[in-house]
Amino acid sequence: MHMLRAATTGVAAFLGLAPRQFDADSSVYVDSVTGLKFASYTTNNQIIYRVAIPDPLPADFVYDTVLQIVSPIAVGWAGFAWGGSMTYNPLAIAWANGTHNVVVSSRIAYGYYTPPEYPTATYEVLKTGTHINATHWQVTVKCKGCSKWGDEDIGFSELDPQYQTTFGFAYSNNQVDTPSSETSSFGIHDSIGHPVYELEGAKNKDFASKVSALQRRCSPSA
Ligand code: HEM
Repeated sequence: MHMLRAATTGVAAFLGLAPRQFDADSSVYVDSVTGLKFASYTTNNQIIYRVAIPDPLPADFVYDTVLQIVSPIAVGWAGFAWGGSMTYNPLAIAWANGTHNVVVSSRIAYGYYTPPEYPTATYEVLKTGTHINATHWQVTVKCKGCSKWGDEDIGFSELDPQYQTTFGFAYSNNQVDTPSSETSSFGIHDSIGHPVYELEGAKNKDFASKVSALQRRCSPSA
């Protein structure tokens, strides 16, 4: 029986019939604080990047997403690339500002230099799921504009959980130049990665009502 199953798997893999080609790097994480189910990945230096999406999804793939980043306190900034590479896709860059506040900045890179602001994607920090303690800073944000991006020239990309999704991350051990400002400049990363996520596990029924029930932050400095 075992032999047979192994042989069958082998043939299916050889023919390319396996629906998922590789094991994803993400695992499913249910967050008791927000009540959301995330696809979650932890980097070698213990930064955690989690993504939650709605279920069902609209046919045009324009939907809100939730990103949660948990970072060791020593990390200066942690960035997440929704399209899996540095350039031409929405980037979320997060850092601690003081001991109470986490800033999230929406950027896009058109080359390998400090990414400028990207107003097309907007982040709303959710107070629920956002905090700083002695060892970590953590932020939970809702994004509008992170599920689909692009234009007629470069083409459109979208997050479709039917396929495995390669995200990108980058982080630096150095602080950003002006932590209180979303438009702060910052220096190059110390490390980057391209983790593969299984977004099937990130789907949440009643996503919109669950997210809107979470506490919002009144102002960036609150
Ligand atoms: C001051 C800011 C930044 C500078 C100067 C910078 C510079 C660079 C350079 C020179 C490379 C090429 C490295 C190589 O090919 O060996 C690179 C790659 C990369 N960067 Fe940045 N970067 C910056 C910010 C960011 C941010 C904020 C993110 C993500 C949120 C990011 C994500 C990546 C990724 C994923 C790669 C690997 C190549 C790719 O997938 O496109 N970078 N960066």
